[in-house]
Amino acid sequence: MHCTDLEVELNKVLALRSLNNGEFISSERRKFVVDSEYVDTRCSFQTLQEIMLTEVNRDRALGDASKCMFRMKHMRDSLSGTAAKVFQREGLMDEGDSIAISGNGWYPKDSYLGWHTNRCTPGLRVYCNWAAESGKSGLYYHYEGHDLDRRVMLDEQGWNYRVFSTSSKLPFWHAVFSHTDRVSVGFRISKEKPEDV
Ligand SMILES: [Fe+2]
Repeated sequence: MHCTDLEVELNKVLALRSLNNGEFISSERRKFVVDSEYVDTRCSFQTLQEIMLTEVNRDRALGDASKCMFRMKHMRDSLSGTAAKVFQREGLMDEGDSIAISGNGWYPKDSYLGWHTNRCTPGLRVYCNWAAESGKSGLYYHYEGHDLDRRVMLDEQGWNYRVFSTSSKLPFWHAVFSHTDRVSVGFRISKEKPEDV
């Protein structure tokens, strides 16, 4: 994806993590876990299997996470607007489609977002992830009923772009791990009215 315009906006989000604590949503900060092993355990295939046995629909990871969320209301409109132009140019969305920021976060070294499906908010998702180092962070995923194991997409150093869709028909289980400094900004593209989550 050719994203120079978008990267200018994304780099402003990246800069937020070096600001003071007030720039983060405090409830998320309290869940900080600085423990490499705990991150790997929460993102393991065994943990996924346990969750699938006990929770029929884990739409969101909620408390099973240790990332920080940015306070970025002031930059949402320009970020979404720029992303919409780039995604239309790339053929990822039509002019009438809606776009919403569907997740943002700073993953300090040894942090994670636990297994979930996002199946209640179906649509195409574009994730822009920045990593300080190659091969030390990424996404584990598993298509319920289709995969026999967990698969992984590792981040390269710098910005990485990923496109996938979530739906209730083919639950896309995923978990994020980071053993390096990592930032994530997600967009959801759909035919429905936009709603930021
Ligand atoms: Fe997700």
